[in-house]
Amino acid sequence: MLISSSLLSSDFSNLGKEVKKVIRAGTDFIHLDIMDGHFVPNITFGPMVLASIRKFSSVPFEAHLMITQPDIYWKKFADAGADIIDFHVETKVANLRLIKEMKKRNIKVCIVLNPSTQVNKIFKFLPYLDYVLVMTVNPGFGGQKFIPETLDKIKKIHDIRQKKGYKFLIQVDGGINYQTASLVKKAGADILVVGSFLFKSKNYKKTIETLKCI
Ligand code: DX5
Ligand code: ZN
Repeated sequence: MLISSSLLSSDFSNLGKEVKKVIRAGTDFIHLDIMDGHFVPNITFGPMVLASIRKFSSVPFEAHLMITQPDIYWKKFADAGADIIDFHVETKVANLRLIKEMKKRNIKVCIVLNPSTQVNKIFKFLPYLDYVLVMTVNPGFGGQKFIPETLDKIKKIHDIRQKKGYKFLIQVDGGINYQTASLVKKAGADILVVGSFLFKSKNYKKTIETLKCI
């Protein structure tokens, strides 16, 4: 399994240090949750925060845009140093043109589905994607409980990938711990986005190593 550390549950007064710590602990990606208070009922970071911590990361930086207008704002996060942009298929602006624009700038593209969104909503995008992110909690907050009904969706996406020979990796985000990591692995996930379980643990290295070996 690959690990993406979600800074939402990290110590915001020491963001740069937290990035360095998870890098030393062996994280494969850094995941930054961008919330606009509109698409989700919470507000977090803007591109300036991403730019200020990007320099501490030697691994790809992912901006998970939980915002209504990813088409307008994604470039600001790309300019700030994001390597991967995640946008939600539930936004009105999710279309192939947006994906192609991102690709033209050498950005890796990830489509995100909320727990209540059906897999058929992303079918037409699948051949063009680098990642698909299945939300395993409702977006907006860290520390929520994993929704087991999402396992079926992970399986479906995994099966379609195999049948069609698509190349994208499957990420899961929300409520990941040792137990749920093993469930999503069986369902076909490749990357675990981990927030509170990692940042509340005493030893980041041990937590990441254990999750990787699940
Ligand atoms: C939630 C975010 C997640 C969040 C996960 O909307 O997208 O990345 O940090 O946190 P945990 O792992 O605590 O559920
Ligand atoms: Zn996220």
